[in-house]
Amino acid sequence: MEPKQNSGKRDARETESTGKLVISLAAPRTASGSVAATAPAVYALPGADPVLAKSGIYAPITLPVIERQWRFELTAGLAGVLEHGECLPLLKLLPANSVDLVLTDPPYFLDGMDGAWNRKTLGASAQRAQVIGSMPVGMKFDPKQGVELQKFLEPIFLECLRVLKPGGIFLSFSQARLYHRCAIAAENAGFEIRDMFGWTYEGQPKAFSQDHFVRKMNIPEREKAALIQTLQGRKTPQLKPMIEPIVFGQKPKDGTFVQNWIKHGVGLADTSQTWDGKFPGALMNSPKPGNAEKGDGNDHLTVKPQKVLRHLIRIFTQPGALVLDPFLGSGSSAVAAVCEGRGFIGFERDAEHCQISKRRIEAQIALETQNQKSIKSR
Ligand SMILES: C[S@@+](CC[C@H](N)C(=O)[O-])C[C@H]1O[C@@H](n2cnc3c(N)ncnc32)[C@H](O)[C@@H]1O
Repeated sequence: MEPKQNSGKRDARETESTGKLVISLAAPRTASGSVAATAPAVYALPGADPVLAKSGIYAPITLPVIERQWRFELTAGLAGVLEHGECLPLLKLLPANSVDLVLTDPPYFLDGMDGAWNRKTLGASAQRAQVIGSMPVGMKFDPKQGVELQKFLEPIFLECLRVLKPGGIFLSFSQARLYHRCAIAAENAGFEIRDMFGWTYEGQPKAFSQDHFVRKMNIPEREKAALIQTLQGRKTPQLKPMIEPIVFGQKPKDGTFVQNWIKHGVGLADTSQTWDGKFPGALMNSPKPGNAEKGDGNDHLTVKPQKVLRHLIRIFTQPGALVLDPFLGSGSSAVAAVCEGRGFIGFERDAEHCQISKRRIEAQIALETQNQKSIKSR
């Protein structure tokens, strides 16, 4: 789905600023979707930490506005940018070696959650899935899905590699069934696959009994009863999903780990960031986010938990770093970056998901501002 064309004219809605949120005007687009020659609005993301900024580790970068962009002033000179549109052309606008961490969650390529992810039809299919006779969401097996996913991800991951600083960490959530395609796409793009992390949770069983289908078979009732007894309640071969794998890759380093750290400030792990009082491990157990965490009106189907995102951001970046999520969804990684005092860039193709992200980011900024005020007044 191509983002709609934009005349580039300011309209009241697009130029309005609220509090610390600044909405950019959209730059003119050509018919082919590329940026028109008239200067697009650009936004610089300055480094937050003056010492690190001075050292050149956090150099300011700029991001042109293509469709619609929301800019958020965070604390201490840090900035966040949410941009509506397809991530591949937007990634191409970022300078090379400019981002500290890629933390993302691409479409799963299961039952409509593909490159043409559509909020409305997905919602409808999730509802239909409650009805017997229809497969639960994520359970339609089509061997082409994995191939398509890899094809979709490779050019995007190639851009992620380009924009990440040398030695920068790449973390991509994935779905257990197609994890391998996501990992291969990352490896083919040039990342070194270092490990697989897992977000573990208490899932819903998705396997279903075959009795219903036996009862519909065109055989005598006695045979149906015998067959059902033979099956002994056996179900389709799916155990309860309890893990969401995360591809853990690293952009090739510039020299040794220490040389890379001195030059780029990334590539090492802060292992003092404990999950459970012990040395941080590859599995992070956390419930799926509830309504309070998701925020008002967030009906996104695949919201990731703040606890996991914040933990990963703390381990792999320093305060003031820049976190990139090309598939922002309802804004979870941006909210986590705000909580941890990091800047962010998020891209999202769905206009309604952008609105949900914007609301969540604004709410988190307001909370952080309030917390800081109450700390100062003590
Ligand atoms: C798995 S969801 C991300 C959910 C997110 N982690 C959260 O917690 O809300 C993937 C998102 O990518 C978006 N998307 C799919 N293809 C895209 C593309 N080519 N460019 C930008 N966004 C895309 C979808 O609209 C969807 O919201």
